[in-house]
Amino acid sequence: MVDDINRIVETTLAQIDGAKSTVALDGIEREAFGKKGSLTSVLRSMKDIAPEDRRRIGRLVNDAKARVQGAVDARREAISREEREGAAQAQRLDITLPGRFIRLGRKHPLTRVLDEMCGIFIGMGFTVVEGPEVETPWYNFTALNIPEDHPVMDEKNTFFLGAGLLLRTETSAIQARVMETQAPPVRVLGPGRCYRRDAVDATHSHTFHQVEALVVDEGISFADLKGTVELYFKRMFGEGTRLRFRPDYFPFVEPGAEVAFSCHVCDGVGCPVCKQSGWIELGGCGMVHPNVLENVGYDSERYTGFAFGLGLERMAMLKYGIDDMRLFYENDVRFLAQFR
Ligand code: DAH
Repeated sequence: MVDDINRIVETTLAQIDGAKSTVALDGIEREAFGKKGSLTSVLRSMKDIAPEDRRRIGRLVNDAKARVQGAVDARREAISREEREGAAQAQRLDITLPGRFIRLGRKHPLTRVLDEMCGIFIGMGFTVVEGPEVETPWYNFTALNIPEDHPVMDEKNTFFLGAGLLLRTETSAIQARVMETQAPPVRVLGPGRCYRRDAVDATHSHTFHQVEALVVDEGISFADLKGTVELYFKRMFGEGTRLRFRPDYFPFVEPGAEVAFSCHVCDGVGCPVCKQSGWIELGGCGMVHPNVLENVGYDSERYTGFAFGLGLERMAMLKYGIDDMRLFYENDVRFLAQFR
């Protein structure tokens, strides 16, 4: 009996020592103290022991139980410490490692200039509108008072798509679309992509962007046009900017003018940017032709308006000192990453 107890205690203690997890330890504990456990059955066989030996053996069994239980508790404590330390080690964070670099996207320079422009015009009470890039000849030409024999009607300049559709050649096509859906007053800015059959070089592209402005109300005069355009250019290119309007012809305005502003690089003295002239041309403008107003059902006796159209690429090139328009479309990240 005594040998049995000693053997059980020894093997159990050895097992406890070798237990690697709480789960294994639970199993060992069950094998010793469970219903059919080794120490439990020793305890159960106590009834067969002679009364004079009972006390001694009883104490022996109790000691054995206490030793095994003590060993189990100590080992459990040790294992859970090891487990905690292991988990902490696995989750260890090296705060001295350099951070991971996240590449941030940037706005395209054309978008940046357009955003700035929209901000200036919204500040003057304009609403930003859009029109379709696939247009009908009515909105792109006829409603704009562009005669049948005008060069843009020619295949050489316009991409005709068939089925009576074409790619708009100018954002002026937005004008009639806006006016036919609302009564005056109109005060809109219409940016957008345009298409012309132009060969690509440093200053031309078959695909480019314009920004159109249109204002129609009672009593609008050329002075309003000048004031609006001037305020815009001063905001965009500096308070010292001066403007020059020279007569020009566009079928949808009368009178029409070409807008130039004093070179922001040399302040009008003459430099390579303004080709020594001191002036930079940036678009066309004029008083909306009465025919255009009548084409959308506006009373041209009561209402007058002005319109202008500016080239977005040219504006961005001037603003950022870029000398080749193709850079805008090639999406070379080394170029694009410079605009922040
Ligand atoms: N649409 C003209 C072009 O592409 C630019 C233009 C000129 C727009 C005069 C206008 C304007 O609104 O009044 O060359």
